[in-house]
Amino acid sequence: MCGIVGYVGSRQAAPIVLEGLKRLEYRGYDSAGLAVQQDGKIVMLKKVGKVSHLESALHAGTMAGSVGMGHTRWATHGEPSEVNAHPHLDCLGAIAVIHNGVIENYSVLKKKLLADGHRFQSDTDTEVLSHLIEDLQKAGGDLEQAVRQALHQVKGTYGIVVMSSREPGKLIVARKGSPLVIGFGEEEYLIASDPSALVQHTRKVIYLEDGEFAVVSMEGVSTRTLDDVAIQKSVEELTIELEQIERGGFEHFMLKEIHEQPETIRNSLRGRLQVDEGVVKLGGLEQVKDKLLAARRIIILGCGTSWHAGLVGEYMLEGIAGIPTEVEYASEFRYRNPVIMESDVVFAISQSGETADTLAALREAKAKGATVLGIVNVVGSTIARETQGGVYIHAGPEIGVASTKAFTSQLTVLALVTLLLARARGVPHVDYTLLMNELDALPGKVGKVLEGAGRIKEIAEVFKDARNFLYLGRGSNFPVALEGALKLKEISYIHAEGYPAAEMKHGPIALIDEKMPVVCIVPKDAIYDKVISNVQEVKARRGRIIAVANEDDDDIGDLAEFVIRVPRTFGFFGPILNVVPLQLLSYYMAVARGTNVDQPRNLAKSVTVE
Ligand code: G6P
Repeated sequence: MCGIVGYVGSRQAAPIVLEGLKRLEYRGYDSAGLAVQQDGKIVMLKKVGKVSHLESALHAGTMAGSVGMGHTRWATHGEPSEVNAHPHLDCLGAIAVIHNGVIENYSVLKKKLLADGHRFQSDTDTEVLSHLIEDLQKAGGDLEQAVRQALHQVKGTYGIVVMSSREPGKLIVARKGSPLVIGFGEEEYLIASDPSALVQHTRKVIYLEDGEFAVVSMEGVSTRTLDDVAIQKSVEELTIELEQIERGGFEHFMLKEIHEQPETIRNSLRGRLQVDEGVVKLGGLEQVKDKLLAARRIIILGCGTSWHAGLVGEYMLEGIAGIPTEVEYASEFRYRNPVIMESDVVFAISQSGETADTLAALREAKAKGATVLGIVNVVGSTIARETQGGVYIHAGPEIGVASTKAFTSQLTVLALVTLLLARARGVPHVDYTLLMNELDALPGKVGKVLEGAGRIKEIAEVFKDARNFLYLGRGSNFPVALEGALKLKEISYIHAEGYPAAEMKHGPIALIDEKMPVVCIVPKDAIYDKVISNVQEVKARRGRIIAVANEDDDDIGDLAEFVIRVPRTFGFFGPILNVVPLQLLSYYMAVARGTNVDQPRNLAKSVTVE
């Protein structure tokens, strides 16, 4: 989603801000802009498209100044265009604002400002902020006070940075609902919506919380609440490494992240799966252990790929640990007045830890008395901070917009949570040794799946011009079918549907003809024969079958046109292996079709608006 970078220091701001914007490109954007304080004025440049377009339009010697800010925009109000790109100025061009989030009451505010004579340039909600601040400053008072007053009039969400040519040398920053982090470098301060834009310059950061406000200048960073009460923030240390956010020889971040999975799954298990001692340890759940053991029900909330992980989690938690589990789209949960009991434990699953709907849903559950926990990747993210406990998945920074390694790590953590709860609740007939050994073996088995990447690339070449795809799976592989279809849609723009294999005959079977590719996930598990019957139904209608099957399945070759082999594992852990070929298939399809794999059109990595 939109990205923010700000700089106050002793170096030239523009190149540093541009570099930071490039680091944020992965979050999704359609235009970018930059503003610098130069000789008592604000100079500004905006371009539609990539940050590199902005960079090439920046001519040497222009935009010289050591205070600046930039923005990558993902359109919410107003089409992607230069005028709608941020920053947005007031009537006199003296105040500039960049903004992530949505100003919900912007049309009311805009009407009033227009009636008072303000002239607007863009269709954005953000521009009302620049004019509102201008308006409030007319009544006297400094920039800080005007920003504060403006924010009191605004409904909605924001992470903003404001500068004024009348008060050079400073940036004003405020947050409600959209993340902002301030980095402390040597004789310089950096502001960003995502720490990956800062890590090259500093590891020392403070995270702004909702309702907090900061003035950043060479004198330092002063943090206060929106109501002007001074607050002392503690400086935290970033743990990400620069090479983790670089491509490291791979053509795309997505391919790098797919190939990292043996290592990232290992990282999710490290120190937690203690095979020799026969225990699972999850430190982040210790404090809430009693609540977890007493839970009558688990509710899992998430969006996109994280929601799919939750669906697999439901199979594990009910199937192994016997705990009633519900999974819900966070965006639906928050608006349907759900019945929540104090004995409910809610897990919010989120790679970014910033997804607006997931955050709002967990706040709703918390307000209704449930215990709220997180399964999150980004350390220090809002969801991680607002939950009462949880488990970091430790997959490292995920840059490709289509989530891959975060998904397999989410599933790994859900498997650990399941084993921990099953044992603590004394569930009988669970062979813990077997399950722990199976989990331990997963990184190596994912490595074996990756060895088959060349074959998957060939299959992608065959189907690259297909218009539709169907993905079928049963049991815990039904969510894998959903995830496979989502991956294909996201990056190759081919229409795809995931379906429970047996449901196909209630509708999608009408779509099957000799042109329809059907990806069937058929591991040799307890329902193998049932899935094979569904595959037969596809074959009888001459659909083109691509099967994901186990290495020892000697019969599948008679049914499927193409077979992708995966090692065997324990049934409920199968999704961790079976999804990997589907990630590779969508990757190679997208490459063959020439789409932008890491930054697919219209999508954002972190969706911080409703
Ligand atoms: C966006 C991303 C998806 C992701 C979803 C949820 O749509 O493009 O890859 O699955 O948001 O994000 P989260 O960070 O909460 O897991």
